[in-house]
Amino acid sequence: MAHACGKVILLGEHAVVHGVPAIAAGIERGATAQAERAASTELSIDSVTASPGDGSDLGRALSALLAELGVTGVRIRASSALPVGCGLGSSAALAVAVARAVQDLEGSPSPERTLAAATAWEQVFHGNPSGIDTAAAIHGGCIWYTRQGGPVPLGLGRPLTLGVAVAGPAASTKQMVESVAQLGQRRPEVFAKSLAGIESLVKNARLALEAGDLPGLGRLLDLNQMLLSGLMVSTEEIETACRLARAAGALGAKLTGAGGGGAVIALCDDDPEPVLAAWRQGGLTCFSTRVGAKADTP
Ligand code: MEV
Repeated sequence: MAHACGKVILLGEHAVVHGVPAIAAGIERGATAQAERAASTELSIDSVTASPGDGSDLGRALSALLAELGVTGVRIRASSALPVGCGLGSSAALAVAVARAVQDLEGSPSPERTLAAATAWEQVFHGNPSGIDTAAAIHGGCIWYTRQGGPVPLGLGRPLTLGVAVAGPAASTKQMVESVAQLGQRRPEVFAKSLAGIESLVKNARLALEAGDLPGLGRLLDLNQMLLSGLMVSTEEIETACRLARAAGALGAKLTGAGGGGAVIALCDDDPEPVLAAWRQGGLTCFSTRVGAKADTP
């Protein structure tokens, strides 16, 4: 059974599409897939089924992935433990798990072929992905990522305990990325300042992560959330989830992923329970996850 992890972006989403570094971490929840040779090609993900040429986005993504791997005649069963479209990398995790399962039929999966195949899949759903979701699903652990340089594993001074809540319905990553790009065209000077601000937060966060300075990292998450609000990707529900988490003792909180709804992360000082309890009381679905101190692989 092939596996790939989901991800959270700790800092730098959206800006990473425009060349700024970002930091992401693989999370334990992810996707699994198993493949077998078959007369016709088909993919089932839990209760959804797709095949190349069926006109669906999933069918097109499957077709692009298999073309990249040069494989036909395969039946794949996949499953995801991640809420779809919430910023937790469900699409990339499925792509990586499926690409690995298909290569398992021939021998060991190669990271390069997995990357190429998963990127082809992601382009169908996201148009202009930076590649950070795919990189996090492949590498796990904590990564520093730029479009130009790809992923670099980061070693953490202390492990991170994160609360993760789903704050409102998911939004389309493609549309959110386009709306940020349009904002950049309408107000280029303000946009450039936002990107420069986020870049400086991401660079400082790397130092805080490596030094194990969790209170410092928490403040940087809060500041990143402010700049994301300025890019118009936050929502009332996201702001409320961040407020609840901070009031319950989180060191910092922000949206993660494309925003417009979807997931919020809160950095907790060890015990995530008070934050999770506050979210549950506010009616939010949530869970906690840990990111290891070592740059480990899934
Ligand atoms: C989505 O998880 C992260 C974004 O920065 C888009 C991307 O990097 O492709 C919003």
